Amino acid sequence: MPRPPEDSRSQTAEVISVESLGADGVLLRVRPQEPLPRLRGARFFMLRREDRLSPAIPRPFSLYDQAGDELVFLIKLLGRGTRALGDMQPGARLRLIGPLGNGWPTFTPAQPLVMLAGGIGSVPFLVGIADALREGVAAEDMTMIYGAATAAQLFEFERFAALGVRVLAATDDGSRGFAGHALECLAVEQEEGRIPPDAWLYACGPGPMLAAVERLSRNTGVPAWLSLEELMGCGVGICNGCPVPTRPEGPLGAWNNAKCCVEGPVFSTDAIQIAEN
Ligand SMILES: Cc1cc2nc3c(=O)[nH]c(=O)nc-3n(C[C@H](O)[C@H](O)[C@H](O)COP(=O)(O)OP(=O)(O)OC[C@H]3O[C@@H](n4cnc5c(N)ncnc54)[C@H](O)[C@@H]3O)c2cc1C
Ligand code: FES
Repeated sequence: MPRPPEDSRSQTAEVISVESLGADGVLLRVRPQEPLPRLRGARFFMLRREDRLSPAIPRPFSLYDQAGDELVFLIKLLGRGTRALGDMQPGARLRLIGPLGNGWPTFTPAQPLVMLAGGIGSVPFLVGIADALREGVAAEDMTMIYGAATAAQLFEFERFAALGVRVLAATDDGSRGFAGHALECLAVEQEEGRIPPDAWLYACGPGPMLAAVERLSRNTGVPAWLSLEELMGCGVGICNGCPVPTRPEGPLGAWNNAKCCVEGPVFSTDAIQIAEN
């Protein structure tokens, strides 16, 4: 039975700052009671306020950044849970459960790769790109394609661009960079020879985008990994609230479903099936 990672724990953290980003984003900086070692990109935490203003069920958020003993989360305000976190004041305390999940797999040196981010799916790539550089992927072999509906939703685009890898914007309304979605941008970059056709794919974003990456990987045989943002109840494997259908022929095929929280959130496309809707 898959279990939560050995390094995860429940503790409180102090809010250091809450900064608004664009129309509906916040950067939440917190200091956990017990400092954490450097964590991999795409690992996540369950967060909830310590007062009664959060829903009882904590919400999952990927690690965005680590600075000294502080953790940074980039949160898109959607419903009650995210708004309650966005309304916190410096000095307040929140419940922090984690680090959870597997994170991106170890990157392969000298292997060209593309990171495909859709909207708030950019979050696990800030640390992910640093991981890949540290693990021997050359900056010139790495491209991030950061897609969003409009330029205002490309949260902290300049921060990604400053990492030294090639970062392309793709917006549905053409307000910044390529006019179209991230996969259309990838197709053009590959047709025009700026990204090799065998570059491995790492993706995080809305379901239809991940389904398209899975299709592409299946059609071309190019390896791909997806970081899923399933709805979650507990984050630690107890509630069965985060099922991900597995491929019978894949490495997880013995069961019909994997648990996104403890076996993911990152899965290779040969292990799982993404719903097409
Ligand atoms: C592993 C993981 C990492 C995540 N990382 C981040 C992150 O770094 N930053 C961030 O902003 N969000 C992230 N999310 C998504 C975040 O957890 C949800 O947006 C949040 O739980 C919504 O809570 P809420 O109470 O504000 O909204 P709710 O009131 O619960 O929902 C509001 C609306 O959004 C829909 N919704 C809620 N959660 C999701 C979801 N996961 N996918 C699609 N629709 C959803 C609901 O169906 C509803 O329509 C992550 C999710 C997972 C599983
Ligand atoms: S969220 Fe409870 S089992 Fe995954």
